[in-house]
Amino acid sequence: MKARIAAIDALEILDSRGNPTVRVTMTLDDGTVAQSSVPSGASTGEYEALELRDGDKKRYGGKGVLKAVANVVKTIAPALRGLDPSQQGQIDRIMIELDGTQDKSKLGANAILGVSMAAARAAAQVAGLPLYAYLGGAGACRLPVPMMNVINGGTHADNSLDFQEFMVMPHGASCFREALRYGAETFHALKGIIHKRGLSTAVGDEGGFAPNLPNNDAGCELIVEAIKAVGLVPGKDVGIALDPAASAFATKDGYNLAKSGGGMKTSAEMTALYKRWIETYPILSIEDGLGEHDWAGFAAHTAALGAKTQIVGDDLYVTNTRFIARGIAEHSTNAVLIKLNQIGSVTETIEAIEMCRKAGWRFVVSHRSGETEDSFIADFAVAMGGGQIKTGSLCRSERIAKYNRLLEIEKELGAAAVYSSPF
Ligand code: PGA
Ligand code: ZN
Repeated sequence: MKARIAAIDALEILDSRGNPTVRVTMTLDDGTVAQSSVPSGASTGEYEALELRDGDKKRYGGKGVLKAVANVVKTIAPALRGLDPSQQGQIDRIMIELDGTQDKSKLGANAILGVSMAAARAAAQVAGLPLYAYLGGAGACRLPVPMMNVINGGTHADNSLDFQEFMVMPHGASCFREALRYGAETFHALKGIIHKRGLSTAVGDEGGFAPNLPNNDAGCELIVEAIKAVGLVPGKDVGIALDPAASAFATKDGYNLAKSGGGMKTSAEMTALYKRWIETYPILSIEDGLGEHDWAGFAAHTAALGAKTQIVGDDLYVTNTRFIARGIAEHSTNAVLIKLNQIGSVTETIEAIEMCRKAGWRFVVSHRSGETEDSFIADFAVAMGGGQIKTGSLCRSERIAKYNRLLEIEKELGAAAVYSSPF
């Protein structure tokens, strides 16, 4: 007999920024218990599925999630009781229909996604499989190359950098374990370099350093210096990935590099700046180099840079096939950032990835700046086999939880584990 959903409970917990988020506990009638916790973004795309917050200023400044918790317990749980948790598509569709809105604003994407992820976990347990093997099948053996966010700026840090994320990618390592070492050693070398310059080594929301540098370029310079300092070769062993998160500084008059005092730039000037950087630094990937409404700019940006460099859309697509389809038609980028909570269910996230695959585009499974100890995306990245994950810096336990889970998966896969660079 198949195990069935017996109960679904939810709890208001805190994320890595100290803001409330939703944890779901699903219990099956065979005694299986599975949990999931929902992440939360800061530099969110305008068209993301809605994260339902209470708006009651007397609790957590309005950020409480008791309504989303109640929606899980009172509305979703009765509708799913008795279902087989392995029917992911059916479970997600029932919740989407119960919600009835385009952006999941009635029940909340935080409520729906929590249940969706918990169902996947519960079904994996019933199948006696680790989550990556359950979701990805027997062929799921590719460990992702991590994008490790070692310098934070933009809306993730209170410093002088307009660009949100300066990341290292240890794409030249022989296996994930070595890649993690390359990243961690570079991170520690970077700390020493920043300290020697008399700058702050305090970290931002994703655990990268957040110094007041003279300009955005300096982020890349320091990273190259750090890679060399640990005896690795920039561009061969470790490359750079950027997420300027340009929607955050896009204005109706252009791109306002206000934090660094870099002035106002047009879309074409931003692309010219990236082109100069690509010629100067070992940059493998640029995400959200332009703002989410700048579709024309993105087509020109990808035409200019995309042959050599991975161009990733995050806010532009919000993991939504409606926008990814447009991007494919207009050659807006050549890759997509995948965030489960942008769209709000496991099924729709997999549909977004399928669309990327069909177009021959790369995809990067990603965390949010507000995270929890849940390591779902580590398994999910291996299951989907895209070969890339973005999950923050080499400190802060909510980031490290994902890396540590990937270490476990690599060990479990043993000789079958593959670590191959997409670059
Ligand atoms: P967010 O940032 O989670 O705050 O949206 C991550 C990103 O922009 O990729
Ligand atoms: Zn982004």
